[in-house]
Amino acid sequence: MRLSVIGSGYVGTTIAACFADLGHEVVNVDVDQGIVDVINTGTPPIHEDGLPELLEAHAGEDGTGRLRATTDYDAVLETDVTFLCLPTPQNDDGSIDLSVMETGATQLGETLAKTSDWHTVIVKSTVVPGSTEDTITPLLESGSEKIAGEEFGVGMNPEFLREGSAVSDFLNPDKIVLGADDDGAQSDMHQVFEPLISTAETPIIETDTRTAEMIKYANNAFLAAKISLVNDLGNICKEFGIDAYEVMAAIGRDDRIGAQFLRSGVGWGGSCFPKDVAAIRAAARKEGYEPAILEAAVDVNDHQPERLVDLLQKHVNLDGARITVLGLSFKPQTDDIRNSRAIPVIELLRERGAEIIAYDPVAVDPMRERFPALDYTATAADALEDSDGAVIVTDWDEFAALDDAFETMANPLVVDGRRIIERRDGITYEGLTW
Ligand code: UDX
Repeated sequence: MRLSVIGSGYVGTTIAACFADLGHEVVNVDVDQGIVDVINTGTPPIHEDGLPELLEAHAGEDGTGRLRATTDYDAVLETDVTFLCLPTPQNDDGSIDLSVMETGATQLGETLAKTSDWHTVIVKSTVVPGSTEDTITPLLESGSEKIAGEEFGVGMNPEFLREGSAVSDFLNPDKIVLGADDDGAQSDMHQVFEPLISTAETPIIETDTRTAEMIKYANNAFLAAKISLVNDLGNICKEFGIDAYEVMAAIGRDDRIGAQFLRSGVGWGGSCFPKDVAAIRAAARKEGYEPAILEAAVDVNDHQPERLVDLLQKHVNLDGARITVLGLSFKPQTDDIRNSRAIPVIELLRERGAEIIAYDPVAVDPMRERFPALDYTATAADALEDSDGAVIVTDWDEFAALDDAFETMANPLVVDGRRIIERRDGITYEGLTW
């Protein structure tokens, strides 16, 4: 099919490249000419495993030519289906900011006014329940002066992509959720995903747009709450001197619990969990319901960095101490520091008078922009030399092999916020949740 993808961010670029790889003709529309130019050289504007190969194969000079980028919205007129992949940031009160989506929907509607051909618009961005039906569709109708369901289709297809494995997650989904408020859109979405449906035998969930929107929030909120519950239980284990990881390995054998997302530690960050949990809580409150468990999940998560620093302070007077922070990205295999747990850890250490030496394999530059006054090093060993203590905040594999470097510390004391290292002879070791 001929697809257009509005937005060349983390989701838009990934799905545009993957759809081209599935055999579709794809045009990626973005307002930023710089990003458009980069994509048209066959280079991804974001860092994601597998994306360089796909961009090279389908947008590169010697590629298939199935993927191209442009700033011209009229390119949509040469396609049958359009995915809206625009940012849905957070307002100060945690509620979703739909303004970029509203502008995009209006512009897309005005573009569709120029054709009498059937066209299906699919919302890909994470939007709170009711957004497609109550906000986006009316804007498409007013912009195009057409009736949704009769003259154009509207669908909602949430993504479940993780940073660092987005391409693999797209091509090997555990489910494909197709929310549609009309049969035309439902049929078009089946066609778009047919290459995945026919090969991967992936479960297809057909529903309406409102339910599809909620499935996305429920998926993320559940995972975030699962981690916070694991941290709550891990904190109890710590009080009893019990190894939380031994407990979680056992309960993970229960299919009703599942073995993944049981890694207790300094908590969850990233661009999705914090934003999505805040947005669904605000949307629920707006309907008159206060989600108590989600509030508690955020509260536990907010306190884990303080527990980590308090543990360190149990062993060393932080005022004037040289403290090593290992790990700055919100998780391994990415340089993304959005809502990284390293940020509150660094703020707390500075409040308590510590002098910080920080290291991360890839996220030093973005963190230096946030905290320019810290010392940053090129290796973990350099960051540990002569330090009075260390905290591990991101579970990079390389942090599991630092025995020699620990011996160079003035005070060999490590608080591990991610259980990436086992207890070491000769150093004072504390696991955050043991
Ligand atoms: C998440 C969802 O997994 C994905 O489906 C959704 O589309 C976007 O949000 P992402 O934010 O990229 O993906 O990262 P994820 O791998 O889910 O980790 C989120 C946070 O939870 C990270 O800070 C990670 O360190 C933390 N985490 C994860 C834990 O603390 N313990 C765990 O067991 C797993």
